[in-house]
Amino acid sequence: MAQPQPEQTGDGPRHVAIIMDGNGRWATQRGRPRLFGHQAGARRVREIVEACPDLGVDYLTVFAFSTENWKRTQSEVAGLMNLFRRYITREAKALKANDVCVRFIGDRVRLDAKLVAMMDELEALTLDCRTVNLTIAINYGGRDEVARATKRLARDVASGRLDPESVDEETLPKYLDTCVLPDPDLVIRTSGEARISNFLLWQSAYSEYEFIDTLWPDFTAAEFRSVVGSYGTRERRFGAVSA
Ligand code: FPP
Repeated sequence: MAQPQPEQTGDGPRHVAIIMDGNGRWATQRGRPRLFGHQAGARRVREIVEACPDLGVDYLTVFAFSTENWKRTQSEVAGLMNLFRRYITREAKALKANDVCVRFIGDRVRLDAKLVAMMDELEALTLDCRTVNLTIAINYGGRDEVARATKRLARDVASGRLDPESVDEETLPKYLDTCVLPDPDLVIRTSGEARISNFLLWQSAYSEYEFIDTLWPDFTAAEFRSVVGSYGTRERRFGAVSA
């Protein structure tokens, strides 16, 4: 279950979450199939992960496939699933070498068994890595996560392990997929769309948001550094007033 996370210490965001949007448009602009954009998008992930240590970003969470993305064509879904498998195969060694601890969030039940086995293996391989915590959301939806968490919580109440009177806002996060992660300080969405699309609904209650026009495959480490740098100018009040 959840390990308590230390408080944020520096001025920069300790946990950055990214909605990697715009792969399809990027490909269409080039007259290429949507999957071409997803492939370019997957390559960007490495560059952004590698930029994290210098920026003091300890946690990076990326939205790779939502519970709603199953509504896309069968060929795009299959292409994305294949891309996730290829990403794991291709990146595992570098992630381990760069001391990146990888976790996956989302409901694994609907994912193909081979992909799930590869996700489990990568998590096991990088379990003791400490420099960056990379969380990849696959078949993830914030509402689905809260529903699944509530089911587990209800089971604990039914079995007598949890007193319903003790349930407060510290309780539910312990049942979420993100139970070992701090809440995101900064959520970035690329491609000019300004919505959260069911991403980290509970966890982002007090996150800062940056909506960037750049399409995800064009989002460079330099732009990431600039967005993370501008976070330091924000005043986070968490509902209180300025000191
Ligand atoms: C949204 O852009 C992007 C996705 C649904 C897929 C995101 C996946 C990747 C970046 C690649 C794989 C990542 C990892 C970590 C292996 P969109 O297709 O909705 O773009 P559009 O709005 O322009 O159509």
